[in-house]
Amino acid sequence: MLSLALLTLLPMLVKGQVTATFPNGATNPDQPEFLPIGSYVNQTSLSRLLTLNGVDDFCLYGPPDQSGGPENEIGNVEPVVVAYCTKPRNNARLIPDGAITAAHFIKTPLYVQIYGFWDGTKVGIVDGDAGGELDPHGAENLGNPIGGNVTSNVGGSDVFYEEWMSFISYDQFCLRICTAETNDITAAIQCEHELDIMGCQFVMAIEDFYQSNNSFTSCEGEPAAPPGHYPQSNGSTSTFKQRYTGSFTDNGSVGYWTVGQTVTPSAPAFYPATSNCVTYSTISNGVNTGDWAVTATPSILAAGSTVAASNVGTTSQERPSGASAAPTSGSASGSASGSQSSASASASRSGASGSGASASTATNGAAASASGGSSAASPAAQNNVLVAGAVGIVGMLVGAVTLL
Ligand SMILES: *[C@@H]1O[C@H](CO)[C@@H](O)[C@H](O)[C@H]1NC(C)=O
Ligand SMILES: *[C@@H]1O[C@H](CO)[C@@H](O)[C@H](O)[C@H]1NC(C)=O
Ligand SMILES: *[C@@H]1O[C@H](CO)[C@@H](O)[C@H](O)[C@H]1NC(C)=O
Ligand SMILES: *[C@@H]1O[C@H](CO)[C@@H](O)[C@H](O)[C@H]1NC(C)=O
Ligand SMILES: *[C@@H]1O[C@H](CO)[C@@H](O)[C@H](O)[C@H]1NC(C)=O
Repeated sequence: MLSLALLTLLPMLVKGQVTATFPNGATNPDQPEFLPIGSYVNQTSLSRLLTLNGVDDFCLYGPPDQSGGPENEIGNVEPVVVAYCTKPRNNARLIPDGAITAAHFIKTPLYVQIYGFWDGTKVGIVDGDAGGELDPHGAENLGNPIGGNVTSNVGGSDVFYEEWMSFISYDQFCLRICTAETNDITAAIQCEHELDIMGCQFVMAIEDFYQSNNSFTSCEGEPAAPPGHYPQSNGSTSTFKQRYTGSFTDNGSVGYWTVGQTVTPSAPAFYPATSNCVTYSTISNGVNTGDWAVTATPSILAAGSTVAASNVGTTSQERPSGASAAPTSGSASGSASGSQSSASASASRSGASGSGASASTATNGAAASASGGSSAASPAAQNNVLVAGAVGIVGMLVGAVTLL
């Protein structure tokens, strides 16, 4: 019922601050292009341009340093993470085949979204790292990462969009790019970035998230309610604001502050319906990661079949020195000793890092309205609340460090 209420808003689609108007990140290519045939993927690239076009054509952020050392935890490197793509594109790094064990693409009238599971250690995420939330805002409103930008071609051509959000951890990922807005739901609200300890399942409204490993699908779908928004049957909306606790020093003594709500709802307002789903057996990048050479036109999964990408150029590059080294997927074993025992609890909520979002919550959150009374709190949900609260405090501390 709630989803139907939301759908009635859709005829009022408008274009406000949906497409990007400001400059592209300094290390990004001007356009989200495939690498030309005859070139080599640069696995030390600093490109921060993400693309989300389909189930096998998307990018995610990962640490610039792939050593797997603890200093590379996402909470420490949010401002400098770099793009890793499933195809050779955007002058970015490549995600090795096999790293992604599930990917689920959904195109809705308001956004496109991908989520799934991966072995994030294959792109340098620290083993067991509960990860963090990345978005175009960050501590200085320059983006997390700074210079991070996103495109999609779901509207028919490549477009840079302004609002997006992504969670990544060592074992899961999700990315939403907001491609349209209504009079009531702006792109900023639909891609809101302050629920950064709530994780993929809650923020991106994915009902079967933890049952969706080891499969690949591409669907259309209705839009979810904006994260934290609970449309009521009388037309009003209640809003959940994530709880933050932090400390400050005033005249030599330490004080504590808290904003947001103590009761965390157990689920989003509703799980949106999907339709026209196509299932694929796997995805692959088409590049030999022995030498990173781009030798063929990338193929793309679309409408149940494989099609060749268009507008792929050709060039004749010299093999870069060192490019014949063994595949970098060895980083998985390199970080095996870094495993952290608390990972599974926090990973289910993903993203333990407060970062810039916590700063803006500190100023806005005080005005938060009552939280979603529509979600019943079962004993199990109560336990989750405790976990989330503890993570929230950790997240705030990490965030405070990041802000420095
Ligand atoms: C790049 O990202 C910044 C920070 O979010 C944003 O202000 C800018 O509009 C984006 N530019 C493009 C071309 O996407
Ligand atoms: C790869 O990217 C890095 C970082 O931008 C750059 O310093 C290096 O020259 C690039 N390598 C090649 C072969 O283009
Ligand atoms: C997803 O499946 C892979 C096997 O394909 C497994 O190694 C990994 O642990 C699974 N991830 C989660 C979060 O269960
Ligand atoms: C709508 O219902 C909610 C409770 O579900 C109530 O808190 C709110 O005041 C109502 N708003 C209006 C405009 O009636
Ligand atoms: C700071 O602390 C000192 C000593 O406790 C006190 O005398 C002073 O009034 C305090 N200043 C403010 C601004 O609170």
